[in-house]
Amino acid sequence: MPKITIDEKDYEVADGLMILQAIDDLGLLMSGVDIPHYCWHPKLPIDGSCRMCQIEIEGVPKLQIACNTPVKDGMVISTQSERVQTARQGVLELLLLNHPLDCPICDQAGECKLQDYSFDFGMPAGRTKEPRRVAKKAVDLGPTITFDQERCILCRRCVRFCREVPGTGELGVFNRGERSLMELFPGTQLDNDYSMNVADLCPVGALTTKDFRFKIRSWFLDDVETVCDRCSTGCNVYASRSNNKIYRFVPRLNDDVNDTWMCDHGRLSYKMGRENRLESALVGGKPASFIEGLRKASDLVRAASESGGTIVASASPFSSNEDLFTLRKLLETLGAPPATFSVPAGKADGILTQAEKAPNAEGARALGFQESDELAGAKLGIVFGHVLPATALTQVEKWILIDTHASDLSGKAAVVLPSRVVTEKDGSFTNHAKRVQRFRRVVEPSWEAWSEGALLQQIADFAGLDGWSEPWDAFAVSKRLCDEVPAFSGCGLTELGFCGCELSK
Ligand code: SF4
Ligand code: SF4
Ligand code: FES
Repeated sequence: MPKITIDEKDYEVADGLMILQAIDDLGLLMSGVDIPHYCWHPKLPIDGSCRMCQIEIEGVPKLQIACNTPVKDGMVISTQSERVQTARQGVLELLLLNHPLDCPICDQAGECKLQDYSFDFGMPAGRTKEPRRVAKKAVDLGPTITFDQERCILCRRCVRFCREVPGTGELGVFNRGERSLMELFPGTQLDNDYSMNVADLCPVGALTTKDFRFKIRSWFLDDVETVCDRCSTGCNVYASRSNNKIYRFVPRLNDDVNDTWMCDHGRLSYKMGRENRLESALVGGKPASFIEGLRKASDLVRAASESGGTIVASASPFSSNEDLFTLRKLLETLGAPPATFSVPAGKADGILTQAEKAPNAEGARALGFQESDELAGAKLGIVFGHVLPATALTQVEKWILIDTHASDLSGKAAVVLPSRVVTEKDGSFTNHAKRVQRFRRVVEPSWEAWSEGALLQQIADFAGLDGWSEPWDAFAVSKRLCDEVPAFSGCGLTELGFCGCELSK
């Protein structure tokens, strides 16, 4: 392994890497070793076009770009010398020759690399007297992205992304020299399933999503680590929130799951927490108070249990491992058979999206639930969510529905209790590759709603079942799950960390 010296400190790095990649792999980039960069991105092919990452190497007469210079044993690198600082200032001055100084009205302000690097490394004032080049403003690139061409610094990240990840190649840099412009290829639109990733990649405010643009300033947001629940990949995301409202999902790096990408469908799914929600309990299809709903549900459970009638349950692959484990424990208490579950299916795209359109089918399997598209005949059914159609429940006399959204099922259930969506609770999902990943509560619903597990505990407690009086807590349930189900050993909520961990074999 080559040994190199960076700013008078010695490091050992992996063979065959470029200097910038080697420093990133050491976890030092911009947090110990400051090498500013625009065009380089760890998940895209090298471009070497922005010249921002210049460094000085002992014995090499010219400054070199760190993103495209291979590491050699014994290299002595300076990232902070006077020559390097002057070169950075020069690059920034060139970039700003044509860049409008419109930070106050630019949606990227606060999370813009041009703003940050100008503050850290730039000139205190511009020297140019010539007018700036005129380019297009607010161009509609397709259904999801707006392009401010005058802000583009031609780093080509967006171009490489469209070529390399979705493979659609809608974007290109046209013309040469100072006439170069990033554009759509004639007759195309930026309209692929991953299009919004270009807004994350764009280091300046040239590419912004129509969904988030001008909704809120980035400095009013704080980011919570969570997981997308729209398919069994479970892409890692940050949910950006302010005042108990989510404004966007952006992908979060996890090399084992989604690199730094996510699909547009998953990205926009943060809105699902707002639309068509069940905001009150229903008894016999009519709105009721939460406590009335709880009483009715516990009466049904007690009556079915005391009369020795069969109780069956349909779990949801959208429920957390902790919620599903609580259902398993309740069915054990009631002497009922294990729950079944059904998974909505769609298409896999070979990039990230899986055919199973739910986040936790593997969790349900690991807990011993069987797949079935209907519920066996019984006196009482406990149903999570609205994956099953009402026709699949015809053999069940009465059923308690625990759900987040209104559906065809809501009016037909004996009792409906409102539950929480993924962004309103803590828990974990097990993705298609059996990786258990933690999601966190981002916002609180403004009406009474609880996670499925918490609702079951309250129903059981009201019904007077032994051992169910302790208030439900995702962390305590997670610990119990790990203790009792060997596959989940070491996968507790407090142990999962930033990237999750695999189920034990
Ligand atoms: S639009 Fe953004 S990502 Fe694309 S080349 Fe220009 S600066 Fe780079
Ligand atoms: S690929 Fe699946 S998990 Fe990832 S963002 Fe899309 S829907 Fe969500
Ligand atoms: S980051 Fe190295 S040239 Fe752009």
